[in-house]
Amino acid sequence: MSITGIKGMNDILPQSVATWQFLEQQARAIFSVYGFEEIRVPVVEKTELFCRSIGETTDIVEKEMYSFTDRNDLSLTLRPEGTAPVMRAFIEHRLHNRDALNKLYYLGPMFRYERPQKGRYRQFHQIGAEVIGLDDPRIDAQVLAMLSHYFDAVGISAVSLQINSLGCPKCRPGYRQQLIDFLSQRLDSLCDDCRRRYGSNPLRVLDCKATGCRQATEQAPSVLDHLCPECNDHFSRLQQHLTELQVPYSINPRMVRGLDYYTKTTFEMVTGALGAQNAVAAGGRYDGLIAQLGGPDLPGIGFAMGVERLALLLGEDAIASPSPDLFIAALGEAAARQAFIWLHQLQRAGLQADMDFSGKSLKAQMRRADKLGSRFTLVLGDDELASGQAQLKRMADGQQSPIELDQLTTQLRAALDAAAAASL
Ligand code: HAM
Repeated sequence: MSITGIKGMNDILPQSVATWQFLEQQARAIFSVYGFEEIRVPVVEKTELFCRSIGETTDIVEKEMYSFTDRNDLSLTLRPEGTAPVMRAFIEHRLHNRDALNKLYYLGPMFRYERPQKGRYRQFHQIGAEVIGLDDPRIDAQVLAMLSHYFDAVGISAVSLQINSLGCPKCRPGYRQQLIDFLSQRLDSLCDDCRRRYGSNPLRVLDCKATGCRQATEQAPSVLDHLCPECNDHFSRLQQHLTELQVPYSINPRMVRGLDYYTKTTFEMVTGALGAQNAVAAGGRYDGLIAQLGGPDLPGIGFAMGVERLALLLGEDAIASPSPDLFIAALGEAAARQAFIWLHQLQRAGLQADMDFSGKSLKAQMRRADKLGSRFTLVLGDDELASGQAQLKRMADGQQSPIELDQLTTQLRAALDAAAAASL
């Protein structure tokens, strides 16, 4: 029996890769406009890093981590997210000494043992960005403006931005207590999970999708009514800046996020197009995290987008794989020998060229050129070899033009430019 892949861990097949590359390239291009630099961190970290940052009582740490002990009895975990590893690297390499403000981005696989369904996988990919060093709400607005710029650039419009503030260690405990008091009157209506969360992580109850929990918490106190003056001011300035930058948003006071490190601003880019998995991107501010991990007391804010969800929204095959610029249909041994050499020269010159290697008929070779979506074809037989001239056929409209074979590269380039200018 053949060996299959692991449930919830997907292969990204060649027909989808162009879409993935497009999503990644756009991120690199846009993030660098905003001054972000890439950072690459390992896929595996010490388990303790995630327990201390994401929080012991979160779903991720309680039940979703891929943890194992290595041959030296060290507990390691496949990273379930990117923020904690990036902060670990930031502290370890003292990046704050390099610059007071660090803007970093990362791309790569993350691992969570969740129940797989559309848009939710056990190995998934994130494109994330983090800004470390400033707590000015203009930074929050800029990060959200960049996120919104990205969605515009890749052409995903079925999303909307929701923002919230979760307060800080000064004001959140008061709110938490109010929420516990409120929930204590309604424990019977909560699901099993939420009855458990009520004691450890009561804010998560607001996020529960179960109808009973939704109804029971309809009148729950709002975190926004309990912000201290500093958090309140930060949140209203963020809103002002978003308006100034014309970034559309709505406020969702029930958005609590599934990771414990957040303070003040939190946000999600949500969609109605992916069923239960409605967050395509999510993030927020984490002003205490770096100090909590043993680093300097620096504020930070960031987000991560789920690449599978972006690809689902865009359409896995939305972007076609690159097709050949030229297909050489060679007839006879001498022509095939010459075509093979020209093919190599064209490829060295950066042109995508292809030919047939199995001695097929002209008709079959042209069918193959068509299937590959080649922009031009060239039929090469004994006559063409002898005269040094051939007909270059533009596949979009069938137009043929003579070409000097000893200037194949330059003349093909000119024909490609002319076709591009005519949008063919
Ligand atoms: P998160 O909300 O856990 O935040 O994940 C961010 C995004 O990753 C989600 O909105 C979703 O698009 C995608 N995602 C999460 N889990 C899965 C899954 N099982 N399958 C497919 N996609 C998934 C974080 O990870 C934070 N580190 C974000 C952040 C960065 N906050 C500050 N900086």
